[in-house]
Amino acid sequence: MEKILIVDDDEGLIHFLQRFFEKQGYGAQSCQSGHAALEIIARQPFDLILLDYKMSGLNGLDTLKEIRGLQVKTPVIIMTAYGTTDTAIEAMKLGAYDYLLKPFDRAELQRIAEDALEVNRLMKEVVSFPGPRGQPPGRQKPMVNIVGHHRRMQEVYKLIGQVADRDVTVLITGESGTGKELVARAIYHHSHRQDKPFLAVNCATIPETLFESELFGYERGAFTGAERTHLGKFERCQGGTLFFDEIGDLPLSTQAKVLRVLQYGEFERLGGQKNLQVDVRIIAATNKNLEKEVEQGRFREDLFWRLNVITIQLPPLRERLDDIPPLVEYFLNRFNEEYHTHIRCVADAAMDKLRAHCWPGNVRELENTLRRAVLLSAGEVIAADQLKLDSEPCDWHGTPQDQLMANIDKQLDELLPDILRLFADKTHANVVDLIEKALIAKVLKQCGHNQVKAAKMLGISRNTLRHRIKKFNLHTEIPAPTSKPDNANANHKPPLAS
Ligand SMILES: Nc1ncnc2c1ncn2[C@@H]1O[C@H](COP(=O)(O)OP(=O)(O)OP(=O)(O)O)[C@@H](O)[C@H]1O
Ligand SMILES: [Mg+2]
Repeated sequence: MEKILIVDDDEGLIHFLQRFFEKQGYGAQSCQSGHAALEIIARQPFDLILLDYKMSGLNGLDTLKEIRGLQVKTPVIIMTAYGTTDTAIEAMKLGAYDYLLKPFDRAELQRIAEDALEVNRLMKEVVSFPGPRGQPPGRQKPMVNIVGHHRRMQEVYKLIGQVADRDVTVLITGESGTGKELVARAIYHHSHRQDKPFLAVNCATIPETLFESELFGYERGAFTGAERTHLGKFERCQGGTLFFDEIGDLPLSTQAKVLRVLQYGEFERLGGQKNLQVDVRIIAATNKNLEKEVEQGRFREDLFWRLNVITIQLPPLRERLDDIPPLVEYFLNRFNEEYHTHIRCVADAAMDKLRAHCWPGNVRELENTLRRAVLLSAGEVIAADQLKLDSEPCDWHGTPQDQLMANIDKQLDELLPDILRLFADKTHANVVDLIEKALIAKVLKQCGHNQVKAAKMLGISRNTLRHRIKKFNLHTEIPAPTSKPDNANANHKPPLAS
């Protein structure tokens, strides 16, 4: 249960707030002075703190400074009836999450509190990953893991380890549900900015007209309805990490302003004249092909290059099916803890079903499938028919051979343009020969030039192999034997001598 601390010397307000939050299922505790608050906070953690500005003794701002001095990251919302908005803005500069002007309405309270609690979850839930650098520094306990030991995931871990603490902009790409947000949070938790805010902007969900006020904030009176000064995400994130999710959906009109922050660390609030400076690290994610977006004029090329300093590419789950068993184990453990269930494993047939699926929704789809199965399962083992897949089975049949073909296809996609370019003006060059020669040479080498073995491995007759060796002049590439040939074994004779 998430816990909220309310600090105010107005008993009536404390009573109202306590009931308000308890009714929504939160734990609420209260006290009436800054000193009392500091004592309570030193003894136990909270998920959100509501702090009155005007209190006798230590006021809200001083209490806030002390809280931050204790290295407590919990979001603080300052409540103020007095003073001007300036006090509240000052509080935000000291690291308050937001402010509420008394008397506030329930909708406003609800919105700001929910936002702050969401930010708290993202900052508190430490993400770790396998490998020597996977444990975050400091005293925090990892609560979420990035799971998978496929070669491409190892590359991901290596990159996270290399860039996390370097303050560079990182672009994370991958299909939906592959773990982009998880990687962004892992980078944050392993950086020296881990004690500062981590805020997320989901560009796919913000209406186009609200982007600028959301990012840069606005001055009171900047437009009709702007009743109070509002700080945007950049300003609230001072010293921290700003995660631009679905950056491909950032409107063109806002892209230039974001580029300016990236280049010079400066911007203005809407309706404001003053040039504001920020120090924010940007991590961006997208499931779009940004290069294509640039080609089609929907994404600024200069912003693309600015973001694309380091790119971390997350593989789709169908290309790392061997990671399904460890992911299943991880999710079963997590759900057992969450729902107090005792599921031990999935049955063999259930595992086969999971491995044969194509997972268009990637790890998120697997997670949902298992969550459902855990909740509906009565026994200790999940059977195949208890796994209800979100997506239709696709053309994909996940046999090892299909996986291999998909892999070859992918590698060819990468290599072919270069090969074709190289041979473009050589009219008699035979690209098929080139690839065949490379393949045969590789297999021969692997078999120690044992032709019988090589022919078997390649699935061709020994005669055909001999012809190819001659055609491609491969016998000239055989290293001279260093010791006496073993005559007892004909296979060790030089390839063309038999
Ligand atoms: N390698 C992984 N190990 C453990 N959990 C993972 C892994 N990858 C993803 N998940 C889980 O899958 C879910 C989706 O991950 P996440 O939100 O990071 O994906 P995403 O790429 O940001 O998706 P989208 O593009 O839809 O926003 C989350 O619950 C996350 O915890
Ligand atoms: Mg995401």
